[in-house]
This record gives sequence, structure tokens and C-alpha cells, in this order.
Amino acid sequence: MAKLYIEGGNRLRGKVNISGFKNAALAILPATILTGSECTIENLPVIQDVMVYRDILTKLGAEVTLSDKGVMKADTTKIDKCYIPNGLTRKLRASYYLLGAGLGRFKDVTISYPGGCDIGLRPIDQHIKGLEALGGIFEVTDDLIRVYAEKLVGNKIYLDVVSVGATINIMMAAVFAEGKTVIENAAKEPHVVDTANFLNAMGANIRGAGTDVIRITGVEELHGGSYSVIPDQVEAGTYMIAAAVTKGDLIINNIIPKHLEPVTAKLKEMGLNIEEYGDSLRVHYEKELVPVNIKTLPYPGFPTDLQQPMTVLLSTVLGESIVIESIFENRFRYIEELNKMGAQIKVDNRRASIKGVEKLKAAEVKATDLRAGAALVVACLAAEGVSVVNDIYHIDRGYEFIENKFMNLGAKIRRVEDEEHKATL
Ligand code: EPZ
Repeated sequence: MAKLYIEGGNRLRGKVNISGFKNAALAILPATILTGSECTIENLPVIQDVMVYRDILTKLGAEVTLSDKGVMKADTTKIDKCYIPNGLTRKLRASYYLLGAGLGRFKDVTISYPGGCDIGLRPIDQHIKGLEALGGIFEVTDDLIRVYAEKLVGNKIYLDVVSVGATINIMMAAVFAEGKTVIENAAKEPHVVDTANFLNAMGANIRGAGTDVIRITGVEELHGGSYSVIPDQVEAGTYMIAAAVTKGDLIINNIIPKHLEPVTAKLKEMGLNIEEYGDSLRVHYEKELVPVNIKTLPYPGFPTDLQQPMTVLLSTVLGESIVIESIFENRFRYIEELNKMGAQIKVDNRRASIKGVEKLKAAEVKATDLRAGAALVVACLAAEGVSVVNDIYHIDRGYEFIENKFMNLGAKIRRVEDEEHKATL
């Protein structure tokens, strides 16, 4: 299995282009099913999860091509049912969007239970509550989820927890529900807005995405067209943090600075120099950073998807910091790996107490999930010596050309397929 060898201790310098946002892409691709037409989706990250969605759409009967530049042409005209019980949907979490999209267009969907990162229980009760309110009837077994409806009728739905997935799923099904649907306590994440923008560009009537009340008026049909996915704020945040931890100087291009505000604010509070431009920013380490406390929250709070690299950074900042993970109960599993690198972090349930150390040291570690994997790469970039990151298939699910991008910034990284071919750095 592939692993990364990383020689740490090099200051990152240069320019990096941020790819399209994985989590927006993974909502917009299933949303193309609703159009029943040909769509061209641009600025897709070329990552494993996008390829899985290409395979899902193909399996359903769509005509799909994906270029190595991240442009997908998906003609979903010929899909006539949304029935995919063969386990393909277990490869990623975002397959739950087939429920909303398939129910909207075909009024009947069956999928295997969605998979994805093991970061907590990840219930889908709010998805079920919302789709039921529109008329959906669920049949759930250990392995399969079916939802079907005679017809969909708009309704008022109050989400008990702020859920990105439930908000988008309900929005998708409501596009074809009769009358008005109102989602209250909706998620406000940029990919909720991006999915709504895509659907509106294809003829839907969705208002209020980006606020906590979303109103959808059902329409008869959508049409095809072209759409470009927003930049990945999680990837961008990861490079910002990598600049900080290596005491580097990076220009981060192709971003929407507004989406990065929760991260920018915290990094500035720590003493990092950040200059914002129209669609880029410069992150420049100038002076010793100070510890801060962080609590992950729904957008516009500090994102759970950047909790891990931020914890890595704080582990190298002298003094004490506290990180509280309030979204997913099992998102500190990588700390054991980080402590192997000399970090001094104690975890008590959802709270990590960090005592910053001067330097991390090289170690052999394993990616426990996608974001944890990226965080460990960041840790290795800062550590003295040559580290090894195992199980990088997690990272490949969500970060485009990670080693190439870091190498262009002066990092020493080599992907190695197995031990026999261990590369010299
Ligand atoms: C999305 O997951 C993202 N995944 C996650 O990114 C991200 O961490 C998360 O939103 C929060 O921003 C995708 O977009 C594919 P939620 P999702 O529903 O939709 C609870 C990554 O690494 N909840 O907003 O699964 C849930 O347990 C991934 O890129 C319910 O209780 O997250 C959690 O505590 C990981 N019932 C909270 O809500 C429900 O029905 C937020 O979850 C749904 C969620």
C-alpha cells in the first residue's frame, strides 16, 4: 500500500493553487441527476471521491466523462431509476445525496448504506425527518435504505441539529415538491450555497441558502448547463496552517477569502501575518506564535474539517491551548499518532489539552481518516527527520496532488508504493 516519506524542517515558500471544493462537488454531482439533462461541471478536484461519484452516475445509466483537468460532462437523461444496492455507495459518505436527488426525480431510491470517514456515529435521522416531511416513506435494513413517495409536497422542516447533509438532501428533494418548502435551522456552509446556486442555475427556485432559513418553491423541471465548483476552503486552510507550522511564506491562489474567515481570524490571533487580496491571500510567518483555544462549530464557526491541522500547529506553539471538537465525537483518533511525533496532547472525550513543544520529531504514523491524514502530513513537514505516513488512501480521497503541491513549495515528499521501492529523498 502506498505511503508518503516526508523529510521535515523545510520552510514552505511559493504559490499554490487551490482545487475545487470536494464537499461541494460531491453534492453537485448527484444534483445533476435532478436535471435529467447534460451538465458540464468544472473546477472539480481530481480525487478518489469524485471518481467514485463518476462511477455511481455511470452505474445509474448516465453518460459521463471526466477530464484530468477536473471537468465532468454528465448526461443524466437516460437514467430511469435510482437503484444502486451493490455497495458502491459505501465508498463515501456523500452517497446519501442520492436519497434527495433520486427521490426528487424518480420518487423512489434504493442505496447501500453510505460509508465515509469513521469520525463518529454520523446518524441520518435529520435527512429522514426532512424527506418524510415531504412525503417520503423509508424502508431501512442493516444494509439498504429505500425511500419512495407517491408524490412530494412542500412542508416546513425544522432541523434539530445543524446538518450540512440533511440541509442539502432536503433542498434537492424539495426542488420538485409541490408548493413551498421551508428549512429552518439550516446549515450555512459554503457548499450548501454552492449546491443551491447550481440548482438555481439549472432552473430551481431556492432562496436564502447561506442563512438559517432556506425557502424552496417547487418547479416542474430543470435544464442542463455549465457550472464551476467553488474553491476548497478546507484545502486552502490546510496550506495556510502548513505555512504557519513550517514558518513559511505562501501565496494561496484561487480562494474565496470570506469562506476562510474563521481560520484567518484564529491564525491572526496567534500572530501569523495574513494579507487578503481578491481571490488569494499571503500567509507569512514573522514572529513566534501564541497559543489559542478553539471550538469547532457549524459555519461560520471554526470548521471541524480543519480542527486536525490546527491541533498540529498548536502542538508546536509553546504554552497551553485547548481544542474542543463539538461536531463529531470521534475526531481525535489521530492524536495518538501525533503524540508519537513528540506532541504533548491529552484527550478527554471531546477536549484536547495541548502543551506546545519546541519541535516535533519524525515518526512512522498512519492516517486514521481523510483530514487526520492531511494533518499528519502537515506535522511531518514541520518535524525533524524523515517520517512515514501510512494508509494514505484516506488522503487521496480528498486532496488533489498533495505531494506535488507541497513539493512545489519546497517540501521533500516522496510517494512510495511499497517498502522495496523506498525512495531516497
Ligand atoms: C459534512 O458531513 C461534510 N461531508 C463533512 O466533511 C463535514 O465535516 C461536516 O459536513 C460538517 O461540516 C460532506 O460534505 C460529504 P453534518 P455531514 O450532517 O453532512 C449530526 C470531510 O472530511 N447529525 O453537518 O455528514 C452529526 O452526527 C467530511 O470532508 C445528526 O445528528 O455532517 C454531526 O454531529 C467529514 N443527524 C452534526 O450533526 C443527522 O441526520 C453535523 O453533521 C445528520 C447529522
